Amino acid sequence: MERRRFLESCAVLGGAAGLARASTAWGDAAPRQYARTRLVDIHGSPIKARGIAVDTNYVFSYPYATTPCFLLNLGRVLPAPAQLTREDGARYAWQGGVGRERSIVAFSAICAHKLAYPTREVSFIKYQARASATSGGGVIHCCADHSVYDPAGGARVVAGPAPQPLAAILLEHDAASDELTAVGTLGAEQFEPFFRKYEFRLTMEYGQSRVRQLVAGDTIVRELTQYCRQTIEC
Ligand code: FES
Repeated sequence: MERRRFLESCAVLGGAAGLARASTAWGDAAPRQYARTRLVDIHGSPIKARGIAVDTNYVFSYPYATTPCFLLNLGRVLPAPAQLTREDGARYAWQGGVGRERSIVAFSAICAHKLAYPTREVSFIKYQARASATSGGGVIHCCADHSVYDPAGGARVVAGPAPQPLAAILLEHDAASDELTAVGTLGAEQFEPFFRKYEFRLTMEYGQSRVRQLVAGDTIVRELTQYCRQTIEC
């Protein structure tokens, strides 16, 4: 069912010619397909959608080994589709959550403002379920400069300097096995600016050959608290 929705959205956006030649009505904001990659735990066992805790930050790498994404269970059926616009004016339609409750979403964890992201040491960006002094609850908040995104609305910008939504990660949910597979992205990718800005850091951390290495097969999902040592509160 989830795969059908993804393919339908591709068909709407790209027509029979496929993802590479998107409908001009949607500019070049059609979904971009990457390797089908199963979400697994640290032991290599597939993540089950029903096991994803509500309002908890999970992180996995996709579509590159060095590009982190958030996996969130927002605990409610999400309104969809959401009509969104990239900084360049191209429009796209986010198709909502997946899973039996349609509550599971994934987004790139690279902030659309100045590309803050969760490192092994610290994360300025995270989902916060509760309201804080600087933003409401149920948002992805980047404490670097206070860009705030709505994960229930495709990670549209609700406050702050970010010029466009976070890129969505497209997930398929297998209803029989309850497993999740990442299949692509939708919205503004920022991977090349990210690689340029953090080339030295990423090379030191991962090795030069892995900086632009695409993931394939499986990708490990961890709680953010297990992924990085410190998360900034704001
Ligand atoms: S880098 Fe995230 S708000 Fe500036």
